[in-house]
Amino acid sequence: VQEGSLIARFGRARRDPALAVLEGFHPLKHALRFGARVVEVVCRDVDALDELAGRLAPDQAAQMHELARGVAGEVFEQLAPLPPTTGVVSLAERPAVDVADVLAPAGGGRPGPVVLLEDPRDLGNMGACVRVAAAADAAGVLTTGSHDPWAPDALRGAAGLHYALPVARLDRLDDLGARGDADGGGGGETSTPVRRPLLALDPAGDPLVPHELPANAVLAFGTERYGLSEELLARADARVSIPMRAGVSSLNLATSVAAVLFAWQLSRG
Ligand SMILES: C[S@@+](CC[C@H](N)C(=O)[O-])C[C@H]1O[C@@H](n2cnc3c(N)ncnc32)[C@H](O)[C@@H]1O
Repeated sequence: VQEGSLIARFGRARRDPALAVLEGFHPLKHALRFGARVVEVVCRDVDALDELAGRLAPDQAAQMHELARGVAGEVFEQLAPLPPTTGVVSLAERPAVDVADVLAPAGGGRPGPVVLLEDPRDLGNMGACVRVAAAADAAGVLTTGSHDPWAPDALRGAAGLHYALPVARLDRLDDLGARGDADGGGGGETSTPVRRPLLALDPAGDPLVPHELPANAVLAFGTERYGLSEELLARADARVSIPMRAGVSSLNLATSVAAVLFAWQLSRG
């Protein structure tokens, strides 16, 4: 009965907006490292988890051991549609994210650019964007559209790095503020920026000049097949492109996020 309720609990958690399902070792490692409240760690073999933690995350090994509970292989196989080969699945609380704070022009909670993904369709791609945004120390990742950025497949693609920076849905493009309200960097003493500059990443835009990227920009990336919407392009303060060899039409979404964020990071000297 207990094992049945554990399987049901993990099944329900996949649809629970208050919980994150962490499939595999690396999502658990990052969640713990970046302060997640982990409420359940279930594994095939506690000794094997201890060995993995000792090798790959000695800083988290004691905490993982405390939280871990071993279950029979046939139970573990039912905790996720694609049980991870590292033999561990966990549940953690999702942190509350204040989108207005993330978008605050002066940097809000964290400095650096905000990544905005407009209606991303592929959860693995979404996760890869969160992972590179965390690595490049961006201020946050916001998404529009129907997909939940905290969906288990997105967390898997991000290796759990959702806990390293704010990740949330943006309900309305209006929350970005109106065009012309941005701080272009040269405002007079009395001007008060009311929104971050919005840059549209678009293969047809002006070539990217990394050191000219405003550090507090919102960098908007379009949906995989169709790119950015007309509505977002109309709101943008500028359209910027990553130069590509002639004949190549576009980069993959996560690859373009990586290129822009690291161009910005590496240009900061
Ligand atoms: C797979 S692309 C979309 C391709 C779409 N057919 C288009 O023309 O925009 C997904 C997103 O990645 C970004 N992207 C891809 N290649 C880019 C480039 N060379 N320059 C700027 N952004 C790019 C854009 O934000 C784009 O909307």
